[in-house]
Amino acid sequence: MTIDKLLAPGGQPITTSQSPEPLPESVAAPMSTMRVLLLGATGTIGMATARALVRRGHEVVCLLRPRQGVRDLQADALWSERLSGTKLLWGNAAEAEVWQQAGLANTHFDAVVSCMASRTGSPRDAWRVDHQAHVWALQAAQAMGVRHFVQLSAICVQKPLLAFQHAKLAFEKALVESGLTYSIVRPTAFFKSLSGQLDRVKKGKPFLIFGDGQLTACKPISDDDLADFLAGCLDDTARHNRILPIGGPGPAITPLAQGEHLFALLAMPPRFKRVPVGLLDVIIGVLSTVGKLIPAAADKAELARIGRYYATESMLVWDPAANHYDAEATPSHGSETLLDAYARWVKGEGAPDRGEHAVF
Ligand SMILES: NC(=O)c1ccc[n+]([C@@H]2O[C@H](COP(=O)([O-])OP(=O)(O)OC[C@H]3O[C@@H](n4cnc5c(N)ncnc54)[C@H](OP(=O)(O)O)[C@@H]3O)[C@@H](O)[C@H]2O)c1
Repeated sequence: MTIDKLLAPGGQPITTSQSPEPLPESVAAPMSTMRVLLLGATGTIGMATARALVRRGHEVVCLLRPRQGVRDLQADALWSERLSGTKLLWGNAAEAEVWQQAGLANTHFDAVVSCMASRTGSPRDAWRVDHQAHVWALQAAQAMGVRHFVQLSAICVQKPLLAFQHAKLAFEKALVESGLTYSIVRPTAFFKSLSGQLDRVKKGKPFLIFGDGQLTACKPISDDDLADFLAGCLDDTARHNRILPIGGPGPAITPLAQGEHLFALLAMPPRFKRVPVGLLDVIIGVLSTVGKLIPAAADKAELARIGRYYATESMLVWDPAANHYDAEATPSHGSETLLDAYARWVKGEGAPDRGEHAVF
């Protein structure tokens, strides 16, 4: 047994029966079509992953959470169109009995791919979705004869400080210990998380940065590039039984550089507003105190902690020995850079839907 120290430092090491080093050569097995259960298919990466799996010829079944009693034809039609080429099943994965329904119990799947995650990031929801719902999915997978479980996680779990990170790590551990072949994919920042300032900058407002805008860096990955990487885990044996940090192409980029590039594309003089990180500490302190009496304030305090985390921690591989984030050690996949996407969005082409509840 070895401990994968590089990828799971701090608090919750992942025990694996696989040797983490050296990385094997990428070996794409001859592409065989599989019957795949996809979780989280209505989310940003889930939708892209459904397309990637269908493109590769897999038979894809998506388990979707019913919308406020909407189990009607309208919802079916909407999602049948968005998830075209897949079969839809309805049920909330965070309710144990859903896993007993026909279509899941006593059915065979070759693989589960999960892009499911808490939409709110509140500690309760994170433990319910990022951990408990996944534990039920894992138990069901074992009963359904699944051989391979591909889990979308997040690179930030390597330095866990937040409830959702601990919930994700607890499930990663359960998956590694389950005996199933696993691929745990820990991506860096998504494009949608770095698109929020486009509108305010277009309206002539300054680009907001924490500190000098160089406290952090990331290697953003597009939805389709990440989806391609997730779908590719099924065929590429080099991605089996591994924890896989992954970023997009090109060098790491700081918030300051993102803003400068956006202003250049808009042919506007750069204007930045510097926000001190200490302001977030004050907000966290106040909300945490109020949160002892009012649960809604406690959830807001956790959101502020999430904000502080992303304002101060890079989305790159953490090197615990050197005590710093390492852009060079963060693998790249795909072809589209954030700067390519900015150029498209500035022209009005396909700006991302950040979603009502998108917090990460
Ligand atoms: N944003 C980033 O920059 C970033 C970076 C690295 C990693 N990540 C990680 O990537 C993952 C996915 O992100 P995303 O942006 O694609 O997520 P998302 O758009 O918020 O989608 C979440 C998916 O999970 C489903 N879900 C949530 N609660 C559920 C429940 N109780 N039962 C069944 N399904 C449920 C949602 O279904 P509904 O449509 O029914 O709500 C949706 O399909 C997250 O784990 C996130 O931490 C994000």
